[in-house]
Amino acid sequence: MRDTFRREIDYLRISLTDRCNYRCVYCMPPEGVAKRSHSDMLTLEETEEIARSAVSLGVRKLRVTGGEPLVRRGAADLCRRLGEIPGVEDLSLTTNGALLAPLAAELKAAGVHRVNVSLDTLNPEKFRAITRGGTLADCLAGIQAALDCGMAPVKLNVVLIGGFNDDEIPALAALSSRWGVEVRFIELMPIGHTVPFGPEAYLPVDAVLKRLEGWTAEGTEGVARMFRLPDGGRIGLISPLSCRFCAQCNRLRLTADGFLKPCLHSREEISVRGLHGEALQAAILAAAAAKPADHGPLSGQCRSCSQRDMHRIGG
Ligand code: 5AD
Ligand code: SF4
Repeated sequence: MRDTFRREIDYLRISLTDRCNYRCVYCMPPEGVAKRSHSDMLTLEETEEIARSAVSLGVRKLRVTGGEPLVRRGAADLCRRLGEIPGVEDLSLTTNGALLAPLAAELKAAGVHRVNVSLDTLNPEKFRAITRGGTLADCLAGIQAALDCGMAPVKLNVVLIGGFNDDEIPALAALSSRWGVEVRFIELMPIGHTVPFGPEAYLPVDAVLKRLEGWTAEGTEGVARMFRLPDGGRIGLISPLSCRFCAQCNRLRLTADGFLKPCLHSREEISVRGLHGEALQAAILAAAAAKPADHGPLSGQCRSCSQRDMHRIGG
């Protein structure tokens, strides 16, 4: 499936829920998510049907996200069903890691061969503050469990926030060689509830390179520019603010309430609830056709056009 800019669309990100056991300050309002009735949400069967249809149109990579996907009951079972769809070559998960320790082995057996875990700080108090109540040790145990059961690569997602964790850049980067993980620094995006941040928080991700020594560039991998560190570690830099990777964008996003988003930052959404067969395929093709060339400028002053918070899109 190609979009109007001849980009090959082969990647679907599936949000299983907009709920989360954390309330990260850049993602959610402090009071959490208004509980929406279950009937507003896709069932796991509907989610699987939409994924199957997308795969029939050429999607080969699936990523399960949230909110926090592991708070949805049946998440591991859905992963198993997604992994069994003929044509799926890559099944991965994005998680905050809090519930990963007890579930990692089951997820691996279900076909989730790699995970991305959010980790913005190594300081327990700062972790509690940024997640509004999370426990660093739970996340670290989740990362360890993913490594122990052989998931590879394990990637750590660090949202870079000026004045919050830029002082930890060397310590976070050093986790790569220490633990055998890839550490990815992501620019803070001005979307939804990123309200409490002043302009200094929107640090270009190149600031990471200024704080590290002896790195060598290793080209790009998907949306990340990769760098090798002198200790053997590998880090990735992801700059959503600069549209640097829009030209290579290969993805569609399915929200937990049944909409396809052609672009993370656009307002446009295409409902796929209740559609089957050819009508469902047509809606998926329409979502691909609606992909914009890029998301336009974003900065501390120029916010995303998306009407949703990140937890309602999938990180
Ligand atoms: N800016 C950048 N990344 C964000 N995420 C959520 N909100 C934002 C934001 N405002 C991403 C983080 C997190 C994932 C679940 O979503 O990378 O790890
Ligand atoms: Fe939850 Fe992830 Fe959003 Fe944090 S960033 S509140 S862990 S969904």
